[in-house]
Amino acid sequence: MKKITIAIDGYSSTGKSTVAKQLADSLGYVYVDSGAMYRAVTLFALENNIISENYFDEEKLLKSLPEIHLEFRKKNPLERADIYLNGKNVEKDIRTMHVSEFVSPIAAVHEVRVKLVAQQKMMGAAKGVVMDGRDIGTVVFPDAELKIFMNASSRQRAQRRFLELYSRGEEVQFDDVLKNIEARDHIDTTRSDSPLVKAQDAIEVDNSEMNLDDQFHTVLQLAKDRIAGRI
Ligand code: CDP
Ligand code: CDP
Repeated sequence: MKKITIAIDGYSSTGKSTVAKQLADSLGYVYVDSGAMYRAVTLFALENNIISENYFDEEKLLKSLPEIHLEFRKKNPLERADIYLNGKNVEKDIRTMHVSEFVSPIAAVHEVRVKLVAQQKMMGAAKGVVMDGRDIGTVVFPDAELKIFMNASSRQRAQRRFLELYSRGEEVQFDDVLKNIEARDHIDTTRSDSPLVKAQDAIEVDNSEMNLDDQFHTVLQLAKDRIAGRI
């Protein structure tokens, strides 16, 4: 069967990575979580005193960029790949609220984006890739055969993320999760380099009223139709 490139973009906690993973498994494609890469750079910045509540040493970040090596590795072929930062598995460490609080300013830095976008383009050089993020359909793969733009109300998204963090044992307040999602959406949509915007040729899926099954079947159908040339 013909293989295509699938770009999934949208706001935080709209279900992008969940649906992207399911789609990749179902089609036998490679899944790439581009957000994990920005989160790993943020973890590096936090661990190396580049960013904190009180300061952001952008010059130090730029000097450190050549030292940051990111890689996706699978423990076994059936599992989703984990992200490694300079040889260390940081899959769990990058998903905390603390990293979420600093990731958008880091992701707004032009040189960070240049580095990560180059790596993402290489990972998607062969067809048969599903990548999710904020600029996949606009910047990373502007020629992707299928572009999906996911959306849902901010309260609904915050509720989902709150439950996710809570089930992982992280004690967070719902209001803090909502504030973080809204703050990130603001920075991500207003930054000068590659702001989050729906690509002109993207299909919007609002899943405020959809469960995981509904959203998966909606997106899978779109992918099958695009592969078969029906849409
Ligand atoms: O899963 P969640 O929506 O919380 O975020 P993520 O996909 O892990 O992305 C974390 C942050 O990385 C976003 O809020 C953006 O600031 C940044 N990001 C980006 O700028 N470009 C991408 N392609 C992916 C993520
Ligand atoms: O990747 P992104 O930040 O867009 O979202 P996600 O990590 O796939 O989803 C965030 C949380 O919302 C996860 O716990 C999903 O299981 C949940 N979710 C849901 O319950 N219903 C949906 N329709 C979409 C996501």
